[in-house]
Amino acid sequence: MIYIEDIFAEEVLDSRGNPTVKTTVILSDGTQESAIVPSGASTGSKEAIELRDGEKERYFGKGVLKACENVDTILADALVGLSPFNQAEIDAVIKECDGTDNYAQVGANAALGVSMAVARAAASSLGMPLYKYIGGSNAMVLPSPMLNIINGGSHADNNVDFQEYMIMPLGFESFEESIRAASEVYHTLKKLISEDGYSTGLGDEGGFAPDFKNNVEPLEYMVKAIEKVGYKPGDEIAIAMDPASSEFYKDGKYQLTSEGKALSSVEMVDYYANLVDNFPIVSIEDGLAEDDWDGWKIMSEKLGDKIQLVGDDLFVTNSKYLQEGIDKKVANSILIKLNQIGTVSETMQTIRLAYRNGYTCVVSHRSGESEDAFIADFVVALNTAQIKTGAPARSERIAKYNRLLSIEREIGLGEYLGKELFK
Ligand code: PGA
Ligand code: ZN
Repeated sequence: MIYIEDIFAEEVLDSRGNPTVKTTVILSDGTQESAIVPSGASTGSKEAIELRDGEKERYFGKGVLKACENVDTILADALVGLSPFNQAEIDAVIKECDGTDNYAQVGANAALGVSMAVARAAASSLGMPLYKYIGGSNAMVLPSPMLNIINGGSHADNNVDFQEYMIMPLGFESFEESIRAASEVYHTLKKLISEDGYSTGLGDEGGFAPDFKNNVEPLEYMVKAIEKVGYKPGDEIAIAMDPASSEFYKDGKYQLTSEGKALSSVEMVDYYANLVDNFPIVSIEDGLAEDDWDGWKIMSEKLGDKIQLVGDDLFVTNSKYLQEGIDKKVANSILIKLNQIGTVSETMQTIRLAYRNGYTCVVSHRSGESEDAFIADFVVALNTAQIKTGAPARSERIAKYNRLLSIEREIGLGEYLGKELFK
């Protein structure tokens, strides 16, 4: 019987140059695989705990040596000797070792790294690609990507209040064609904003991040870029947004600093309704703040039939909060980030709950990423059909898109839903 022979972790850097955890699992048959966990900037307050050392003299307190030590000791001690082929059991043991409900003890960065690395090692030992190990023969759907081509909020130093302006290629037959179209729009957008004297420097997720006149101008440029390449806005390439509004919700108001406005929840919903009427927007994530559930209810009633309303900070990939959303008829979609909840199995549990209740799932990267493309395999394995993993630029984002290109070619008969998603 093949068993886990060793598990260890080391401190490496993420795409922002901050420390993160790389975990390696070695099996008794000699298989060795690793995983690197990502890290957010605009994190939800109820996310699983990312353990940081807090020693100011190392990485300004952001070191992860304690999390690595927890992998080497607590988690390795409990898991060495077990079969790598029962992910549910592995993840249950990880959870039990921690003993809290948010990984406050061992750290979600320790827990998730082990969980991902065990899955990858199991797949590798069986000679299977990861998506097939997790999803079996049913892993068939290539996702429609949401590509974040203009960055604002906590991901950039500009004046834009909203965090993410994304294009979503829907009118194409394959993932490959979608990425091609997105890349063309991205480069055309660069040209357009550059001609108008705007900076083409990039934000954390690879999107352009100049100062704009207001929060609406980026949408105008995106439509212009889509048309300039020769695509039909909405029909072929739609727009998705993640304002990440918890970041600008202060004293019960949505503070749109770049427009000199402080809006109530109802006014903020009207603001979005107006955008939806004027731009080909199919999806808005975290349009309202994580603790503004009353506002979310109003937004869901007003916009829930028209567009996808994705809960990120609101649900933090946690089935408990998602269930609350289902009960209160709030949102109709959930963002899926493995490190918000802590293990692969708990993430899949949340996805199953979403599906049983008609919520869509958007698998997502974090703003702090690495070369690890786990989510590319994961999104195909779970057939969620939507992924957001940044602009078509910068290797930590491209790693996921490139992996999806390879998976699509490997599957051959994969499905691409595109427009069908928003029928
Ligand atoms: P984060 O942002 O990774 O910085 O939390 C991503 C998001 O809000 O979707
Ligand atoms: Zn978000």
